[in-house]
Amino acid sequence: MTPDAAWSALDALAGRPGGAAIRPLFAADPDRPARMTHRAGDVLLDLSRTAIGPAVLDALLDLARATDVAGFRDALLRGDAVNVTEGRSALHTALRVPDGAPPAGAGPSMDRALALARQTRARMQTFTEAVHDGSIRGATGQRFTDVVNIGIGGSDLGPFMAARALWTPGCPMRAHHLANVDAHAWDALRPRLDPARTLVLVASKTFTTQETMTNAALVRGWLAESLGDAGAATHLVALSTNLKAAAAFGIPAERVFGFSDTVGGRFSVWSAIGLSLALALGWPEFERFLAGARAMDEHFLSAPLEANLPVLLALAEVWHVNGLGYPARAVLPYDERLARFPAHLQQLEMESLGKAVRIDGSPVPRGTGPVVFGEPGTNAQHSFMQLIHQSPTPVPVDFILVANPGHAHPDSHRKLLANGLAQAEALLVGRSEEAVRAEMAAAGAPAARIDQVAPHRVFTGDRPSTVILLPHLDPFTLGQLVALYEHKVACLGALWGINPFDQWGVELGKQLAAHILPALEGLDAEQDPTTAPLIARIRQLQGIG
Ligand code: F6P
Repeated sequence: MTPDAAWSALDALAGRPGGAAIRPLFAADPDRPARMTHRAGDVLLDLSRTAIGPAVLDALLDLARATDVAGFRDALLRGDAVNVTEGRSALHTALRVPDGAPPAGAGPSMDRALALARQTRARMQTFTEAVHDGSIRGATGQRFTDVVNIGIGGSDLGPFMAARALWTPGCPMRAHHLANVDAHAWDALRPRLDPARTLVLVASKTFTTQETMTNAALVRGWLAESLGDAGAATHLVALSTNLKAAAAFGIPAERVFGFSDTVGGRFSVWSAIGLSLALALGWPEFERFLAGARAMDEHFLSAPLEANLPVLLALAEVWHVNGLGYPARAVLPYDERLARFPAHLQQLEMESLGKAVRIDGSPVPRGTGPVVFGEPGTNAQHSFMQLIHQSPTPVPVDFILVANPGHAHPDSHRKLLANGLAQAEALLVGRSEEAVRAEMAAAGAPAARIDQVAPHRVFTGDRPSTVILLPHLDPFTLGQLVALYEHKVACLGALWGINPFDQWGVELGKQLAAHILPALEGLDAEQDPTTAPLIARIRQLQGIG
């Protein structure tokens, strides 16, 4: 079947009356919950609360075959140059291949990446252990207790998300994350740090990112104030592919941890970019994080399409975006520790999949990556869930539940889980106007009040969600979860025929910011007439215009 034929078959199914209905699928198949639930290692994925019935599932799997998702997966894991617009491979999976093991997809072009990954990992381990045992200390001889990761985008979100998820007070070091060029962030962080005991990682793949280099200069100045220039240098580490620029910043080669430019920022938490995580958690925990991702790589490579979690998650997205026309998706982890997980997915998914042209440069004929947003449950319920329950356009939800908490308060955890399960159920089953009227009448509401309020209290139901269930949250399960979404993104690249590994859409704003900056400083530079009046007004408000 050609991709066009597979898309047409899907469009036909989406166009059927009742194509978005979910409840009838449960009525038609008592085994639906089991049939639509799949497992990979510790990760359970329940797709039963989607409008994917047997015919749609078959059509989606036909589409996966027609667009050669498996071929793209194999090429990715083999190390082929799948990032065609940047002319390189996407080798993040090489980073989680343990010493001595073959790569998940075994291909010769993986060799260099594997060698570099292993070499850097060994250096990261030696460094981490030396910081922890006190053989590497600060300029005044004190042990490092705090690590600050200065980075933005993929050089911040992955390590920040994972540290937030996994750090506990018994961990070896405290981790802090500085991303925004807005110095309010640094002003808020600085009082919590003692320069003599703070290790600073400048995390930037390119080592040219304006935000990161500006923050790095601020923090280096702060270190130098109390430790002197030479002392400050001993507190600095670079995580970068650009060894030259790191050296120019004053960080000696033995304090630079590199990685290959075949590792995209949003896929880089497994690389040297994860050093703050290793320092915060301890090396064995970091290795378990890598091992979890590797377990998901192996599942992705070997599971048949119809039981392959990344593939199924991607197909559900296709159905929601292209079949049913839902342009957004919410990610709701019912676990406070995963508070930064939606932010990580925002970059991973939107920077990868928000594309207007296909690999051959032709315009995409249908929608690509949806808007992704989220908050931990139950906070989301008291914020935006109103819209998700009652707005005219449904918003599919990923519920992420963790069966066992990391704390000793079972009552709180039961309430948390009850809320998550209730939200998924409410979205599915809804509440009819008849039911609302009956309930209000039983509560003694007058007829006029029932007429007035009943329509407002209706829940249409048939709103899709997926549930991802983990037994507990630890480095190994988190590694599986993050890699699941990474591979989902790769599958969507194949399904939509777009390159999920480039991000040209971030360039224009960066260039314009560089052009606008001198004007804010009062230097002459011709500005776009739409921006010039605002620059003038800002300078006036600053008392300098
Ligand atoms: O926002 C664009 C981007 O290039 C991301 O892809 C990347 O994660 C981020 O900037 C940071 O880049 P770098 O690690 O080079 O500082």
